[in-house]
This record gives sequence, structure tokens and C-alpha cells, in this order.
Amino acid sequence: MDLKGKHFLKMLDFTPEEINGLIDLSIRLKKEKKSGKSQASYLAGKNIALIFEKTSTRTRCSFEVAAHDMGAHVTYLDPSGSQIGKKESIADTARVLGRMYDGIEYRGFEQDKVEALAKYAGVPVWNGLTNESHPTQMIADMMTIKEHFGKLEGLKFVYMGDARYNMGNSLMVTCAKLGLDFVACTSEKYFPESWLVEKCQDIAKQTGASVTLTDDVAAGCKDADVIYTDVWVSMGEPDAVWEERIKELSPYQVNAKAFSYAKPGAKFMHCLPAFHDLNTTIGVQIHEKFGIDCMEVTDEIFESERSIVFDEAENRMHSIKAVMYATLGDVR
Ligand code: CP
Ligand code: NVA
Repeated sequence: MDLKGKHFLKMLDFTPEEINGLIDLSIRLKKEKKSGKSQASYLAGKNIALIFEKTSTRTRCSFEVAAHDMGAHVTYLDPSGSQIGKKESIADTARVLGRMYDGIEYRGFEQDKVEALAKYAGVPVWNGLTNESHPTQMIADMMTIKEHFGKLEGLKFVYMGDARYNMGNSLMVTCAKLGLDFVACTSEKYFPESWLVEKCQDIAKQTGASVTLTDDVAAGCKDADVIYTDVWVSMGEPDAVWEERIKELSPYQVNAKAFSYAKPGAKFMHCLPAFHDLNTTIGVQIHEKFGIDCMEVTDEIFESERSIVFDEAENRMHSIKAVMYATLGDVR
């Protein structure tokens, strides 16, 4: 795997060997950190810009901790703290930041924006989430699955909920590239776009993966190894869509019934944040309006032994470290 100087924008840009290389590097870096080995020379003296046009807990903290561990310095630009898009174009911003920083993380709206940033920056650009994709999450997710199952190929991976957005798209591509059997189990309206499904089905032919779309929960979840979900309304979407989403996606909630079809050792995954109880402001507002206590996953499943969501969240840091090290450092 030689990714030095490359951008990290979407999973379609990478070969299975490169993705597996990043997963294995993440596992190595996690072991090193747990053993107390210093990683401070890996990106010593590098400067990294973190641009967030949407909010974040995991992604921001992962980039910051990973950078600090590897000896790099970061500047955080929050959703209101820069001129980007408002007074200055992406192309101009890219050319300014590229003169000062060795690498740039960008979380925002359209994928086109992060692609434009990469085109003009002259330094590696890492996608920290767009409407269409969430590639750093993919390395963490596959790393987590590999830690728990010891392999990736041949596992049945079921995604329930809104499969048209960043998480559904990215997981479908990643599973196709790495030889998993991907199922989008949701109402037809929420299937990923057909051009992407066809592309993934083509990739699957070469890797031994499969890509299936179904609105049948029993068939979709049958013998699943992993059941994955994400919020029903993503960042940047209007509040007005909540009612429709709750109505249309409730049949695809991850709950005990869905897991009753899965393999006995099946695991639950979620990129987080998750609406599984009433301990959030939005959770309470939704409860008051629609009378429900949880949304995409029940509290019972979220808190169960099946749930590996906090391993997954921790792995965001180790895998983002791998992405930065591989594209910016000299991996030894
Ligand atoms: N999963 C994820 O990207 O979390 P944050 O929005 O907290 O970064
Ligand atoms: N689909 C979610 C993912 C959050 C990590 C969103 O875009 O808000």
C-alpha cells in the first residue's frame, strides 16, 4: 500500500488492497498505542487544518487526538469560524490553506466541495463526512468487524434505515470492495441510487461480494452477521422530514425482532450519534410530538452484548490515525 500524497475522499477511489492495508495499519496503530509505544515521530512538525461545516464529536476528536499522538498540530475551524463558501470560494480557500498546512480535513455538505478542495489544495485532503460519503468511518467499521469476527470476506452485513445517504452509500461500496454480502433492508424509497448499486454489483462480481436490496425484514436479516443502522434524519436535512421518516422507516428499526432472524452471534453497529433513549434534546422533542421512546434502534439492542458501537467509536481514532499516517507520513 502506497498512499503517500493521496487524498482520502470516497471509498470508490481505493482498491481492496489499499482498504485492507489501511484496516491493518489501524489495527497496528491501536496495538502500539495500547502498549505505550510513542508515535510522536510519525507526523512530527506537520500542521493540519480541520474544517467542520457540520458539527461533530467523534470525527473531530479522532483527528485531534490522532494528530497529537503523531506529533502534528491542528487548527480547528468550526461551522461559523471561517469564510468558506460565504465570502471565499472553496478553490480560493484550498489554495490559501494548502500554503500553510500539510493536510486538510473537511466535513461539509456536497461531495463536490471536498473534491474541489482536493483539486486545488496541493496537499492531502481527507473527507470527514459529506452528504454522499463518510470514508473515514468505513475504515473504523471494517476494522471493528475484523476485530470481532477475525475476517471480513463472506460475512453478511445488513444495513437498515436510510440507505440513500452517506452511511448507506459508503457501506455498500466498502462491503462490495471487501467481499462482504451487503443487504440494504429498507423501504424501496430509501434504497441507494441505482447507478451506485449497479457499480457495486459490478465490483462485487470481482471480489466475491454480493449486493442485495430488499424491503423484507425477515429475508433481509436472515443469518446476518452484522446489523447496522444510522439516524433517520441526517445533519443538514430539514426538521420537516422527521414525521415522514418516522412513519416510513419505523418498520426498519433495529430491534429484537430484526435480530431474531440473524445468526446467534450477530453484532449491532451504528456510526453514532444514536437515538435509542430519551436522554437527548431531539429525542425528547420527538417523544413529545410522536410518542416514541427511540428511533432507529431500541435501547434494548443498543445496550445489549451484541452492541459493539463503542469499540467502533474508539476505532475512529485509530483508523483516522492510519489515514493521516499513510497519506502524509513515511509508514515504516
Ligand atoms: N460517526 C461520526 O461521524 O460521529 P460525529 O458526527 O460525532 O463525528
Ligand atoms: N447520516 C449521518 C451520519 C452521522 C455520522 C449524518 O450525516 O448526519
